[in-house]
Amino acid sequence: MTGDAPVLETHALTKRYPSVTALDDLTLQVHAGITGVVGVNGAGKSTLIKVLLGLLPATSGRVHVLGMDPAVQARDIRALVGYMPEHDCLPADVSAADFVLHMATMSGLPRQASRERASDVLRHVGLDEERHRAMGGYSTGMKQRAKLAQALVHDPTLVFLDEPTSGLDPRARDDMLDLIARVHADFGISVVVTSHLLGELERTADRIVVLDSGRLLRASTTSDLTQSTGTVVVEVLGAGDGDRILGQALLDRGITAWPAGDDVEVRIERPEDLDAIRDVAVELDLGLVRLQERRHTLDEVFLPPPSSPAVASAPGGVAP
Ligand SMILES: Nc1ncnc2c1ncn2[C@@H]1O[C@H](COP(=O)(O)OP(=O)(O)O)[C@@H](O)[C@H]1O
Ligand SMILES: [Mg+2]
Repeated sequence: MTGDAPVLETHALTKRYPSVTALDDLTLQVHAGITGVVGVNGAGKSTLIKVLLGLLPATSGRVHVLGMDPAVQARDIRALVGYMPEHDCLPADVSAADFVLHMATMSGLPRQASRERASDVLRHVGLDEERHRAMGGYSTGMKQRAKLAQALVHDPTLVFLDEPTSGLDPRARDDMLDLIARVHADFGISVVVTSHLLGELERTADRIVVLDSGRLLRASTTSDLTQSTGTVVVEVLGAGDGDRILGQALLDRGITAWPAGDDVEVRIERPEDLDAIRDVAVELDLGLVRLQERRHTLDEVFLPPPSSPAVASAPGGVAP
C-alpha cells in the first residue's frame, strides 16, 4: 500500500437486516491516523465494523480494508486488523495475562515473541498487578483495557475500537482516550474508534465521520468541524479580580469581552486586538497564563440549537 492510499473505503455500501437498513448507500474513505465514527445508538457504527471485518456480509456495495475485500479475504484482513468489540467478550475465569498471551499465540506469533508482545501491550494499557487475576472480577475500566490489549497484541496495522469508553466514568473515559491517542503515537497503528457521544472524540480523532440512520452525515477533519469562533479565551494569573479588570480595560478600548468562568473571552475583529490583550495585561501587571483560540465543540456543531432564542449564543455579561 502506498503512503496516502486510504486504509479503508466503502462505495455505496448497504447492509439490510430483515427489518431495518443499518447501512444505507454509504460511501466513505478513511486514511491513516485516528478516525472517529460518531452517531447515536442504532446509527450503524457496529454494523459497519462487522462488515469491514468480514464478520457480516454486505447486502450490496463495495468494501476494501487495507486494499482487501472482506467478502473474500476476511482472514488476511483479520491478520492485519485488531478488533475491540463493543460488548463484553472476556472469559470470566481467565486472567488478562493468559487471555492476551493466548490471543497472541492464536495470531501465529512464536511462543517467546507472544510472551513479550503480551507483556508489552498489557503494560501499555496499564494493567499491571491485576493482569494475573481472573477477569470476571474486573471493573468495567479494567475490562475495557483488557479488550484493548487483545486487539493490539498481534501488532496490527489498523484497529477498530467499538465504543471503548462505554460504561466508563469521566475520569476513566479520559484515561481511555489518552491510551487510544498513544496507540497511534507510540505504535503507529491507525485507529477507527466509535462513540455515541458526539463531542467525545474531538480531542483524540484527526478526522470525524458522522453516521445517521446508516447514512453519511459528515466526514471531515476534526479541525474543519470545530471551526474557529473568532474569539480567544484569556486566563490571567491569580484568583483575584484580574479577569474582571482585564475585561473592563479591553471594553474601554472598544474591544468586546465577556466573562467565562474565571477566564475572559475576547472577540478578535482585527489582528491588533490580540496585541491589545497583551499590552493591557502588561500595563495592568496581570500575568497572562493562557491566550487560546476558542473553537466550536462538536456538540455545538451537531446538537440542535436551544429552542428558546433568549438563551441563544450571543455573549452576554460585560459586553456593551
Ligand atoms: N443482528 C441484528 N439483527 C437485526 N437488526 C440489527 C442487528 N444488529 C443491529 N441491528 C439494527 O441495525 C441498526 C444499526 O445497529 P448498530 O450497527 O448496532 O448501530 P450502532 O452501533 O451505531 O448503535 C439498528 O437499527 C439495530 O437495531
Ligand atoms: Mg454499536
